[in-house]
Amino acid sequence: MDCSFPVINMEKLQGGEREKAMELLRDACENWGFFELLNHGISPELMDEVERLTKEHYRKCREQKFKEFASKALENGSEVTDVDWESTFFLADLPVSNMSELVDMGADYRKVMKEFAAKLEMLADGLLDLLCENLGLEKGYLKKAFCGSKGPSFGTKVSAYPPCPRPELIKGLRAHTDAGGIILLFQDDRVSGLQLLKDGQWVDGPPMRHSIVVNLGDQLEVITNGKYKSVLHRVVALTDGNRMSIASFYNPGSDAVVFPAPTLVQKEAEKDDAAAVYPRFVFEDYMKLYVIQKFQAKEPRFEAMKATALPIPTS
Ligand SMILES: [Fe+2]
Repeated sequence: MDCSFPVINMEKLQGGEREKAMELLRDACENWGFFELLNHGISPELMDEVERLTKEHYRKCREQKFKEFASKALENGSEVTDVDWESTFFLADLPVSNMSELVDMGADYRKVMKEFAAKLEMLADGLLDLLCENLGLEKGYLKKAFCGSKGPSFGTKVSAYPPCPRPELIKGLRAHTDAGGIILLFQDDRVSGLQLLKDGQWVDGPPMRHSIVVNLGDQLEVITNGKYKSVLHRVVALTDGNRMSIASFYNPGSDAVVFPAPTLVQKEAEKDDAAAVYPRFVFEDYMKLYVIQKFQAKEPRFEAMKATALPIPTS
C-alpha cells in the first residue's frame, strides 16, 4: 500500500510534465479524497500575513474564552465525546459576506482575509476545471453544478487547536466527512494533527510551509456518482503547539440542485449495469441533515436523501 500523502506541484500542470501531474491528481481524487498543493499561485507573503494576523487575533480576542472552556471540558477526568478541543469562528464571503458583523476583527485583518478568500475562490474554480478534465466532463460543469440562483457559496472556518493536557480524553475535531464541494486548507506548518482515513488507517496530513491541503466533500461524491469520495478526517489534540487551521469551503449555493452527472452515470452503466447510486436533492436540505449528523457516517445521510429525492434526469 502506497501511504505517501499525494503532493501536486501545480507548476507541473503547465509544460512537459502535465500528463503525469494530471494522473497524480486523478489518483489523489479517486483513492485519497485529499491532496496537498504546492506552487498554487497564492503568494507566500500573503499567506504569512494571514497567519500572523490570525495568530494575533487568537491571542487578543479568543484565547481567554478558550481557557475558560478548556478548564471546564476536562474537569471530570473522563472521555469527552460531544465537544471538540478547538476555538473557531466562521467568515462567510459568498454569496454574502458577514465580515462587517465580526466586530473584533481589525481593518488589516479584514482586508487580508478578503484578499485571501478571493485568491482561494480563483484557485478552487481552477481546480474544479482540472477535475472536470480528469472526469471527462465539459469545462465549467462542476462550477455550474454548484451555482444556485446566487452562485456558489464560499466561507472560511478559522480555528485554533491549542495544546491539550489530556489528548487521550478529547479530539481536536471529531472524525467527519465535509458536507460541501471542495475544501482548501491553510494549515499550520509546524503543528500537525490532521489525519485522514486511508484503507482503514489514520494517515497524517503533513504540515508543509505555504502549501494548501485540498479535500473533496460529500457533494463531489454525489456529482461524480462515487468516482471521487469524500473521506473521513479528524484533528487529534496534542500536548504541544497551538495548531492554526484556516479551512475554506467552496460549496453549492443553498438552492443548487445536486445530482450525479448523467455522463458519469452512463459510463458506469456501460461498464457494469449500475444505475445512479446517489440521490438528487437541494443542497440546503442536505445541510439540514448534516448539521445534526456531522459526526456520523455519510452513507445514512445519502440514504435519507434518497427517501425524499427528486427524480434523476436521464440526460
Ligand atoms: Fe472537515
